[in-house]
Amino acid sequence: MKSVFFGAVSATALIASAVHAEPQAEVLHWWTSGGEAKSVAVLQEEFASKGGQWTDMPVAGGGGDAAMTALRARVLSGNAPTAVQLKGPAIQEWYEEGVLADISPVAEAQGWADVLPASIAGHMKCEGTWCAAPVNVHRVDWIWANADVLEANGIEMPSTWDEFNAAAEKLQAAGIIPLAHGGQAWQDATVFEAVALGILGADGFRKAFVDLDMDTLKSDEMKAVFDQMRTMRGYVDDNFSGRDWNLATAMVMNGEAAFQIMGDWAKGEFMAAGKAPGEDFLCASVPGDGFLYNVDSFAMFDVDGDDKKAGQELLAELIVGQNFQKVFNLNKGSIPARIDVSLEEFDSCAHLSAKDMGESSDNGSLLPSYAHGMALRGAQSGAITDVVTAHFNSDMSSDEAVNMLADAVANSM
Ligand code: BGC
Repeated sequence: MKSVFFGAVSATALIASAVHAEPQAEVLHWWTSGGEAKSVAVLQEEFASKGGQWTDMPVAGGGGDAAMTALRARVLSGNAPTAVQLKGPAIQEWYEEGVLADISPVAEAQGWADVLPASIAGHMKCEGTWCAAPVNVHRVDWIWANADVLEANGIEMPSTWDEFNAAAEKLQAAGIIPLAHGGQAWQDATVFEAVALGILGADGFRKAFVDLDMDTLKSDEMKAVFDQMRTMRGYVDDNFSGRDWNLATAMVMNGEAAFQIMGDWAKGEFMAAGKAPGEDFLCASVPGDGFLYNVDSFAMFDVDGDDKKAGQELLAELIVGQNFQKVFNLNKGSIPARIDVSLEEFDSCAHLSAKDMGESSDNGSLLPSYAHGMALRGAQSGAITDVVTAHFNSDMSSDEAVNMLADAVANSM
C-alpha cells in the first residue's frame, strides 16, 4: 500500500516540476540511412517546435547491434542517454536492471491504452507500468523488386519459393544479380526468418522462434529452410560481405539487382530517392501466410534533472501523438502504431501491410520478428543468428545446421 501511495506522489511531482523546465533530450538511435534520417528529423523538428533541445546520438549500423553496444557502455559508466531506441524484450531486460524511467503519467494522460492495439501495448509495459513509447509497425517479411527489371525479363512477383528460385535462375542467366543482400548477421537473420515463415507456416514459426520447441528446431521443415538459404546463397553477388542494407536497396533501385528481402524500412529508402511503389518498385509479402511485426519504440532512462525529465515527457507525448505517427511513418516505410491514424495519404504497400496485419491478428498468424528483437531475449536470438550466419557463410549441410541450432538454443537458456 505504502509504496503504491509514494509511487503516485512521485509521478505527480515529476510532472509538476518538469512542466517548468526547458525540455532536453539526448537521443540514442540507429537511424542513419537516407530514409531513416529523414524520418527521425520529423521528431527532432516537432521536439524543437515545442521548445525542446535535442542532442543527437546516432550510432550507425542497421538492425541496431552497434547502438545496443554503445548503450551498454553508457549505462555501465553511469551516464545513460535520456531516450533510447529500444524494442521487444530488451525493454523488459533493461527494466529488470532498474534503469528505466516510468512514463505511465504521460501514457495515462494521453490515453495510450485506448489507441494502441493490445499486442503492441504489451511490449511497452513492464510489470504493469508503461516503460516505452511505440513509434510504428514495420513488417519484416517483404520482397522488394525493381519493376522494370521484372517486366523486361517477363517475371511476376513470386508467390512460392519455387517461383522465386525459377525467377532467380532466369535473371542470373540474363546477367542480373537476383538477390541484393548485405552479408551482416542481422541481414542473414532477416532473410532466414522470412524464408522460415514461408516454409514452416505461422504455427511452425511460433513453435520455433517464440516457444523454442526443440522438435521444430530440428525438424525436416527446418532443414528445408536451410536448404532454401543455401539455394539463395547462390543468388547473391560476390561482393555481398559486410554490405549495408541500404546499399543493397540501392542495387535494386538502379537495376543491378532484381530483388531484396528486407523489412519495409527499405521502402523508406525507395521513397527518399523519389521512387514510386507500383511504378519503379514493387512490394509483396514473402511466399506463405502470416505477418512478422517489428515495432520501433523509445524507452526513457532514469536520469537526473528537471530539464531531462521534461524532455522525456515531451518526447513520449510527441511519439505517440497522431501527427507524428502519420508524418514519421510516411517517411519511414512503416505504418502507425496507433489505430486511429488515417492511412489515406499512405501508399499501396502500407495499405497491404495494414490489411494483412489485421487479418493475421484475427487468424493467429501475427508474429513477432525474432531477427529484429521482438520475439526472444538477446542471448537466445543471438544464438540462433550465429548459426544462421555460420551456415550462410560456409558449406555446412542443413542436417548439421539444425543440430547446431538446437544445441545453441539449448545452451542459451
Ligand atoms: C529497425 C528499423 C531500422 C532497421 C535498419 C530495424 O531493426 O526496426 O527501424 O530502419 O533496423 O536499421
